[in-house]
Amino acid sequence: MMNPKTVLRVEDFAKQFFIHEQQKVIPSSSNVNLTVESGCLTALVGPTGSGKSSVLKGIYRSYLPSEGSIFFTTSLGDTLDLAKADEHQILDLRRNEISFVTQFLHCLPRQKTEDIVAQPLISRGVKPSAAIEKARQTLDALNIPERLWGISPATFSGGEKQRVNLARGLIAKPRLLLLDEPTASLDPVTTNRVLEMIEALKHENTAILAIFHHMELVERVADQVVTLEPPVLTESILENIA
Ligand SMILES: Nc1ncnc2c1ncn2[C@@H]1O[C@H](COP(=O)(O)OP(=O)(O)O)[C@@H](O)[C@H]1O
Ligand SMILES: [Mg+2]
Repeated sequence: MMNPKTVLRVEDFAKQFFIHEQQKVIPSSSNVNLTVESGCLTALVGPTGSGKSSVLKGIYRSYLPSEGSIFFTTSLGDTLDLAKADEHQILDLRRNEISFVTQFLHCLPRQKTEDIVAQPLISRGVKPSAAIEKARQTLDALNIPERLWGISPATFSGGEKQRVNLARGLIAKPRLLLLDEPTASLDPVTTNRVLEMIEALKHENTAILAIFHHMELVERVADQVVTLEPPVLTESILENIA
């Protein structure tokens, strides 16, 4: 049914929000079709507001998709539709196969940075001491100074928080990695380091779907580029409203 290298296939995805106070429907993505292959990076491009972030949130199921299918092939070779999967399946996939580096780090004020970064490994069954060791290596690779590892990122600068977020997303070598503007507040040296880490993950067969702030980055790491058009209300939604 799918190319054996295809990890993700999104078909006719659309997302709308119903704003109750205004009795209005706001489209956030429509007519989205894309594939992501193992070991390859698909870049999502398009103007602000074209629904790029909403597509990633739909795949990760932070948003429930309004329409379309999101076929994901697991490491066991089963294919399931993430648009229809139940919460339990989604939590399981988030723990074991899918990582999402969002634009903003959400963290508890008392958690140590190294614990936040180690957490995806620990929940996959890695021994805490080994997970912390790997977290420290990853933090070091992203140029986060050692004096920050033992404190909470709550008070870190935007760029430091983004690096912690990246370290957490990259540490566990997910089967599918979703990246939303991961280098937007990084300096050129760290941006290069992140691109190297992305290349390394591709070599280890991670499938990556990414949004980048600059086309130059897309040209450097993308194997495929998908352009989103400004979202429209789809026929079936218009029929439902009528
Ligand atoms: N939770 C939400 N509620 C209402 N509208 C939303 C929500 N999330 C996104 N949108 C709207 O959907 C559109 C697409 O947003 P987004 O996916 O963030 O686009 P992009 O990442 O391409 O800039 C925007 O008009 C945005 O305001
Ligand atoms: Mg966005």
